[in-house]
Amino acid sequence: MSNQPQLRGTIELRGDKSLSHRAIIFAALAKGKSVLRNLSGGIDVAMTKSLYQSLGVRCAGNPDELIVESSGFHRLATNEKALYCGNSATTLRLSFGVLAGSDVSCVLTGDQSLQSRPIQRVITPLREMGADIHTRGGSDSPPVTVSGRPLRGISYRSPVASAQVKSAVLLAALHADGTTSYSEPDQSRDHTERFLAWQGVDITSSQEVTTLRPGVEIKAFEYHVAGDISTAAFLIVPALLTRGSEIRIRNLLINPTRTGILAILKEMGGDITIENQSERYGEPVADVIVRESPLVGIDTGKYPPVIFIDEVPILAAAAMFASGKTRICNVGELRVKESDRLSGIMQIINCSGGKAEVNGDDLIVTGGIGDRRALPQHQGDHRLAATIEIINLIRDGNVSGKYHDLISISAPEFYDAIAGLTA
Ligand code: S3P
Repeated sequence: MSNQPQLRGTIELRGDKSLSHRAIIFAALAKGKSVLRNLSGGIDVAMTKSLYQSLGVRCAGNPDELIVESSGFHRLATNEKALYCGNSATTLRLSFGVLAGSDVSCVLTGDQSLQSRPIQRVITPLREMGADIHTRGGSDSPPVTVSGRPLRGISYRSPVASAQVKSAVLLAALHADGTTSYSEPDQSRDHTERFLAWQGVDITSSQEVTTLRPGVEIKAFEYHVAGDISTAAFLIVPALLTRGSEIRIRNLLINPTRTGILAILKEMGGDITIENQSERYGEPVADVIVRESPLVGIDTGKYPPVIFIDEVPILAAAAMFASGKTRICNVGELRVKESDRLSGIMQIINCSGGKAEVNGDDLIVTGGIGDRRALPQHQGDHRLAATIEIINLIRDGNVSGKYHDLISISAPEFYDAIAGLTA
């Protein structure tokens, strides 16, 4: 770790991916012209845009400022038999909820990774609402056929904490007959609920249950997307772990259902402070300041995994450079992400000279860096590729730059952000 760079300076990141998907979907549901600013520039969000274009929604501009013009939910229509969602489970699962109660009949599918993602978790509640939605032979993965029809409200307790499942149900509930209430084991990201409340929809949401009464149509809107906290995590970790680093990330989304990574890194000893907090479109936003600080391993047991699930790869990388043992608890859900991230992270850490093991649903990382043993594999997964690069950066002082296309699924600005802060 001799050539360590310093990360210094101020940066504002492109819009959060989860918020960007939702902004486009809500703009597609609203009749009229919506203006969306600072969208994620990632391929996943471009997939959502092109899917709704296939459904008759007009989009002009670019992620800096996208004008979305729609004739509204009741006019969604397509001539295409199959709509492609690429690598994006958010596009796919949320769109089931939109289409289930619409006048559209079509097939939704995606790339090889998406075709292995579980979807019965979304199909089950939507069927209870009366949806006509099925897979070939009842399989648990896409392609999925949806034939829109009238839906009814339900009271549903999901066995998994998943914002994609919850959002699909809430999107379907918007046009269903009667009230829907939804609960889950731990509260997943609540962006859909916050957006609907901001729009004046009759929705109440707590950690225990979300209840939606339909009747309010989404109106065309202007929206500025706050910075992506999941991308920020890839800058926060090297800023904590490289000598003399100090960065400020401006206007970052700090929704408490997403900030598990900040809380855990702070508990590990990370010097992370929040300034200039405000609320935008119902979401909390702030500047996050990060200064170099030694980290010590902890047990994450008290943090619900759903509030930091996308950040586990980079958290595990941080744990390699911490002193002592870090136990990242109850993260079995990682087995069904874009790849099997649980075995993927373990492989990356062990190949990079660290020490990681999986025990049941826990990932245990013992701090300390030895000799590199083999080439770490990203398994075609954008967050694993970005994690490999951050390990390279902390350990060797530079990134390979090899994974731009893959990391662009979520964050095309990844390498530019690192270059800007290490210049
Ligand atoms: C997302 C929800 C999470 C997360 C994904 C984005 C969303 O997935 O991992 O990256 O925008 O709703 P699950 O709902 O499967 O937990």
